[in-house]
Amino acid sequence: MTQLETQLTALRQEAQQAIAAIVTLEDLEQLRIKYLGKKGSLSQVLGGMGKLSAEERPKIGSLANEVKEALQTGLDQKREALQAAQIEAQLEAEAIDVTMPAVYRPQGQAHPLTSTIDRMIDIFVGLGYTVATGPEMETDYYNFEALNFLPDHPARDMQDTLFLPDGNILRTHTSSVQIRYMEDNDPPVRIIMPGRCYRRDTVDATHSAVFHQLEILAVDEGLSFTDLRGTIKVFLEAMFGEIPIRFRPSFFPFTEPSAEVDVQWQGRWLEVMGCGMVDPNVLKAVGYDPETYTGFAAGLGVERIAMVLHQIDDIRRLYASDLRFLRQFQS
Ligand code: DAH
Repeated sequence: MTQLETQLTALRQEAQQAIAAIVTLEDLEQLRIKYLGKKGSLSQVLGGMGKLSAEERPKIGSLANEVKEALQTGLDQKREALQAAQIEAQLEAEAIDVTMPAVYRPQGQAHPLTSTIDRMIDIFVGLGYTVATGPEMETDYYNFEALNFLPDHPARDMQDTLFLPDGNILRTHTSSVQIRYMEDNDPPVRIIMPGRCYRRDTVDATHSAVFHQLEILAVDEGLSFTDLRGTIKVFLEAMFGEIPIRFRPSFFPFTEPSAEVDVQWQGRWLEVMGCGMVDPNVLKAVGYDPETYTGFAAGLGVERIAMVLHQIDDIRRLYASDLRFLRQFQS
């Protein structure tokens, strides 16, 4: 065997052992450069071919090709094996274990006051009403004066109303929105006005300084107390089912005649709203002609209705944000 043959055979053996020991694709590439690169081991060995005789040259040449092909094949096979192993490892790392416990995401739900307001709105929307809103900070004009409160009416008293330092007030009822809406819109009117109200009440089981009302207003030609009564009855029956309803005469500055409405609930009469025919002075204040138009209005206490619906005994529970309480109301 010539020296070159010995070198080539040794090179093949050494390279094949090195390939077998490789574990990463990067190292494999280094190895390829080391043995088969331009300045690699094989080229160096073949550099000595120039000194060979004419008979020896083809022999060595074909051996060199054989070694080169063997190494190339060895490198290719190793690369494929490493790539397959890499994909395998990645698949394993990214595998989803469908038997693992799921991530717990608590399901939220509407607050009972929100779901009560939504139900009330749904019923009136079904009767052709649309929703209107107004500011919670009001002027004396919208909260009282335009609603026909006399300057010395007790409702303006410090006992009831929260006055702000700038002379504005926090609205004591949603009736103020009636005025704002009628100022901007011509009759006929059919609106409901849900919203938050404020009073200087001492908080107890049935009083809250912050509470919600839903105001109703209809103005048109020829509306009478019968229309008011029918609307209220349809609403209360949609809300509570067939229950006894009672209208009691009452007084509000902005309605004439006025009434309070009670429903019989668990053997007791419970007041759920004030209502009446819109006072002609209110229509005049917004520029409606009381000779042509009449209207009816009502103001419903949302907390009261929610408490009746869900048999809640203390209004403060509705504001305590106690999840043990709130979770009972899957609306
Ligand atoms: N605004 C009244 C209150 O807060 C409730 C009320 C009574 C509203 C009669 C009305 C109504 O629209 O007609 O006590």
